[in-house]
Amino acid sequence: MNDDLFDHAKAAREKAYAPYSRFQVGAAIRAKTGAIFVGGNVENAAYPEGWCAETSAIAAMVQAGESQIEEILVVGDGDELCTPCGGCRQRIREFSTDQTKVSVCGLGGVRKVYRMADLLPDSFGPENLA
Ligand code: THU
Repeated sequence: MNDDLFDHAKAAREKAYAPYSRFQVGAAIRAKTGAIFVGGNVENAAYPEGWCAETSAIAAMVQAGESQIEEILVVGDGDELCTPCGGCRQRIREFSTDQTKVSVCGLGGVRKVYRMADLLPDSFGPENLA
């Protein structure tokens, strides 16, 4: 189990800023070097300007000079799976392969594990521009 990633994502979720939806989400990335980067969703009074936990974690990873996601884990509460939104699937894909592991968690632990190719099949990525 990804205990360390899960703990990091859960702690990041606690720091998410989600006063409008009241739906806090945390994300943790294990990058190529093994370093872990976290983020939470950050909402805004101008609703469309808010962004997702995955996006925050990706920004932290890029600022550290990393560009390959080994795996990513997302934590959100609720009955439904807290799967990455469409926009975040594309953002994750930029730094992933088809086999990159995406773990979707509730507050109690991992609920479902995906590979990127399942979440975003036949995707458009950097290779398309090569
Ligand atoms: N949200 C995330 O941060 N990540 C997801 O994977 C799903 C949704 C956020 C966006 C918004 O702040 C709140 O959850 C409700 O949609």
